[in-house]
This record gives sequence, C-alpha cells and structure tokens, in this order.
Amino acid sequence: MEIRITPSILTVDFADLAAEMRRVPGADGFHLDVMDNHFVPNLTFGLPVVRCLRQVSAQPFDLHLMIEDADRWAPIYAAESGAETVTFHVEASKAPIRLARELRRLGVRAAMGLKPATPIEPYADMITELDQILLMSVEPGFGGQKFLDVVVPKIRRTREIIRGSGAQIAIQIDGGISVETIGRCAEAGADVFVAGSAVYSAADPDAMVTELRKLAAAAYCGM
Ligand code: DX5
Ligand code: ZN
Repeated sequence: MEIRITPSILTVDFADLAAEMRRVPGADGFHLDVMDNHFVPNLTFGLPVVRCLRQVSAQPFDLHLMIEDADRWAPIYAAESGAETVTFHVEASKAPIRLARELRRLGVRAAMGLKPATPIEPYADMITELDQILLMSVEPGFGGQKFLDVVVPKIRRTREIIRGSGAQIAIQIDGGISVETIGRCAEAGADVFVAGSAVYSAADPDAMVTELRKLAAAAYCGM
C-alpha cells in the first residue's frame, strides 16, 4: 500500500480555508472533519462549505463525518460533496454494511471510523465492504490532543484481519499524529495518516508533510 499524508484543516484559520490548503501542495489529500455537536461536543462545517472547498482544490478529499444518523447523512455527502472518500462512524450507523454498499454505489470510497474504545473484531467479517478503516487515536471532537498509545495494538490487529481477508483496505490513523508518533503507527500497519496540528503548527507545513511521509515509509512494515 502507498503511504499517504492527509492534513486536517481543523486547527487552521477558518476565515481563509482556501489559502490554508494552498500551504500544503504536497499533501496526498485533505481530511475534512465534519462535526454536528451531537456525535461529538463540537461543531465545524457541513456540505455547503465542503462544496466550496471542492472548487478551490484539486487534491482528493476525505470526509470524516462525526455526525449522528450516518445512515441518512453519509449518502447525501457522498452524492453531493465531490469527496473521493466518505467516512462514517460505526457508532453512529444502525446498518453499516448497507451504508458501505450505498457509498460505493454512489461512486465514493467507503470508509468506516472507530472511536478509540471501539473494538475492530465485531466487524471482521464485513471489512471487505470497505475501502478504508479509520482508527481514531484521540477521542473525536478536537484537534491538538495527545496521541492515545492504547490504539497501537488495534492497528496491528486490524492489519492482520485485513491480511486474512485478502482484500486491499487502507488503515487511516487520526489524532495526535506527529514526528514522535507516526513511526509506531506505520510499523503497526497504518498507511494513511491524518495530521492537523503537527502540519499546521510547523514553520513550513509542506515540508512537514514530506518529513512525516518519510518517517512513515521508513517504519511501514509493508504488510
Ligand atoms: C479529531 C479529528 C482529527 C483532528 C486531528 O476529532 O478527527 O482529524 O483534527 O488533529 P490533530 O492532528 O491535531 O490531532
Ligand atoms: Zn478526523
């Protein structure tokens, strides 16, 4: 699998999102955190803003929907946002298999997110319905939190389940990813990395993306 670094714009200047995105031309895509103030205790932006951003960036978008009632909303985002990847949270879906199939039918990559304390094992038999699994390494809701090391064994187990399935499924890790933490995630089998504060608090955000990609590639076990 290819290592990808997808910056999160959660901690940037919301008055000039287009300019903030132009600061990282080397990103492999952007990770857009949609929050509804119900699934998480924070509110960000929704479909109208994502659609405007789509007009000002050619990079792939991956939408991280931290919203309730994912079965209803995720297909609407898939159909109308222009994003390549749509991630719903399994904790917010009543029918994740049906939802994943619906997302693929709508032409996007289907991704499912798990909060730090949600185990992967109950979903082992359905992972072939997915193109990507997002493992949260902080409690969702805010950027700039400390990486939760307890998630690393789950990355490893998820990679093993994927290997057993024979399918090509990416593992995205999200929360507290930095030059200190990216190596152990890549070594455990993650291949797509969200980094918000690490990228945007760097003096040169684009150089930080290159640095993170280099560290991840060096540590990735290539399973
Ligand atoms: C948190 C979001 C993350 C966050 C990452 O709920 O899902 O994408 O913005 O930010 P950092 O990299 O600062 O933890
Ligand atoms: Zn996110």
